[in-house]
Amino acid sequence: MKKINESCGFMTNKNLIDLEAMSPEQIDKIIRKAKKIMQSPADYRHACDGKILATLFYEPSTRTQMSFQTAMLKLGGRTIGFDNPMNSSVAKGESLKDTIKIISGYADIIAIRHPVEGTAMASSLYADVPVINCGDGGHLHPTQTLTDIVTLSCEKGRLDNLKIGVCGDLLNGRTVHSLIKTLAKYENNSFVLISTKELSVPLYIIDILEKHGCKYEISHSLADAITDLDVLYMTRIQRERFKSDEEYEAQKNVFVLDREKLDKAKDDMIILHPLPRVNEITVDIDDDPRALYFKQAQYGMYGRMALILMLLQDEDFTIATRETNVIEHRCSNPKCITQTEEYLPNLSYEKLGMTMCDFCDKRID
Ligand code: CP
Repeated sequence: MKKINESCGFMTNKNLIDLEAMSPEQIDKIIRKAKKIMQSPADYRHACDGKILATLFYEPSTRTQMSFQTAMLKLGGRTIGFDNPMNSSVAKGESLKDTIKIISGYADIIAIRHPVEGTAMASSLYADVPVINCGDGGHLHPTQTLTDIVTLSCEKGRLDNLKIGVCGDLLNGRTVHSLIKTLAKYENNSFVLISTKELSVPLYIIDILEKHGCKYEISHSLADAITDLDVLYMTRIQRERFKSDEEYEAQKNVFVLDREKLDKAKDDMIILHPLPRVNEITVDIDDDPRALYFKQAQYGMYGRMALILMLLQDEDFTIATRETNVIEHRCSNPKCITQTEEYLPNLSYEKLGMTMCDFCDKRID
């Protein structure tokens, strides 16, 4: 749901594509609403009566899809959608644009996950209802970050003055990118980036940390890094992001949180993980009071309930958009949605003197 002005700059929107577009005040409003819902869920049982959420999942999901569906059901609304695009007319070659146009006529709000970067942003150009990015390739996963910060607020009581270790696939891990971008805005947060050299964070994330003046360290040892963390955010090595099995096999068991390493951590450190887990946290850790990853998934449902309410019911809750231009050059990122959906305009924005793709946020040369 977006209005395009004459220069193709966007004015207002009700879409959540990138959590970075939300102000800390808006994020705080969602956290407060999520806490209110947790305290008295019965007060919200009919908040979305008559409303329909469409979940369009072009990629597998357990938590994001089902927590969105549960969130809408708990608010009194209903859900439609697919979790396998091959059971929809996508299998017959229907474009993203046409799919979104049609679903816009059926649903009041759309939650979409897609393996290609920039898909949620592209969907928002053609939707007449709010679009929520539920993960677009290795790019962004803003409602996971919402989940993470609701968890931090409830469990640590703050979003600032935290030393956060992020561990695993920091290159392709969209949850990590969204989390770092959001937490970098809060005062005195510092980061330990724990990964192999091959899976280290993209440079644009380092740029963000430097822009916000955040302290950060790069580490190749979880055992060394864990000792003074407030939060350890573990992530899965994602088989689906590798070109070959050999590359995946070389990375998959490098960082495993086990009892021996956890014994070196502070008593009040919390362990988060967006899940699913493969084997990067040993199962015996699950009963440790610091292991909050299952509770985290439940917090996510409340965060998503709050988000749905804000987008559907709070007229003042609009999300900032950046100035964009239509340019001649196409984005050359092979993982960008502009490579497969040919009708998309070449939308770009300027950042630090560079021209960036408005869909995937990669530099356009
Ligand atoms: N954390 C997360 O996105 O999980 P799913 O892939 O199961 O939705």
